[in-house]
Amino acid sequence: MTSDAPIGIFDSGLGGLSVTAAIQKLLPQENLLYFGDSAYAPYGTKEPARIAQRCQVIGDRFMDQGVKAMVIACNTATSVCVDQMRQHYPVPVIGMEPALKLACTRGGGRPQRVLVTATPLTLKEAKFSRLMARFSGRHTILTQPCPDLVTIVESDRLNDQALVDATLHRYLDPYDLQTLDALVLGCTHFVFFRRSIARICPPGLALIDGNHGTARHLKDLLSQADALNPGPGPGRVEIANSDSSPAMLDLSKRLLASCRP
Ligand code: SIN
Repeated sequence: MTSDAPIGIFDSGLGGLSVTAAIQKLLPQENLLYFGDSAYAPYGTKEPARIAQRCQVIGDRFMDQGVKAMVIACNTATSVCVDQMRQHYPVPVIGMEPALKLACTRGGGRPQRVLVTATPLTLKEAKFSRLMARFSGRHTILTQPCPDLVTIVESDRLNDQALVDATLHRYLDPYDLQTLDALVLGCTHFVFFRRSIARICPPGLALIDGNHGTARHLKDLLSQADALNPGPGPGRVEIANSDSSPAMLDLSKRLLASCRP
């Protein structure tokens, strides 16, 4: 493996572009290959076996492209098959970091009230049950599946503010947001709603996602393997999608650009 080999990043669709932006920021000299599986999105309402099959197709594609590491920039796919992918591929495979841990530990040991938003499947999978078992004794953890947020991103309706607000209110109004310490964005698609969610939530409520943690974990693993690209950079970013229409490529580029400061 050469240090200028690319890093493969994939998601069920477009949410992982928010992770790609975090990786670009932390590791600007790295070459990145992004694959969105939009033709098969959403994952969060599908059978785990189907998702595992898609992940293997994408992982094989990345190996053919000579990647030095893979990032599963999708909480649902991470829950379903990060362990299998780690066993199957001879390169480091990084999944989404559990932002629930960050949400529970940021209070300096004080019990936290946390609302976790994610896909229905992420909330059903064993990985999340293990996190719940670990943190729910001391902290109050509420969960809200938000599948329609994924559809809004994939169908290029993020600019339909009336739809975005109505959908967010439908999911969040059942909770007394004033009593919460943190809201976890447990799906990479949800990061695109950060500003809209912040407008609805009280100012003191922390919105937490796993993007930076995942980027940092990737950096640590590459550093340990002496596989960081020394540069000079900036690295190239190539975007591909199982929906190969020009509209999808255009939407991907706009979403990635929207994550840059
Ligand atoms: C989805 O395709 O349902 C979203 C997957 C995720 O990021 O958890």
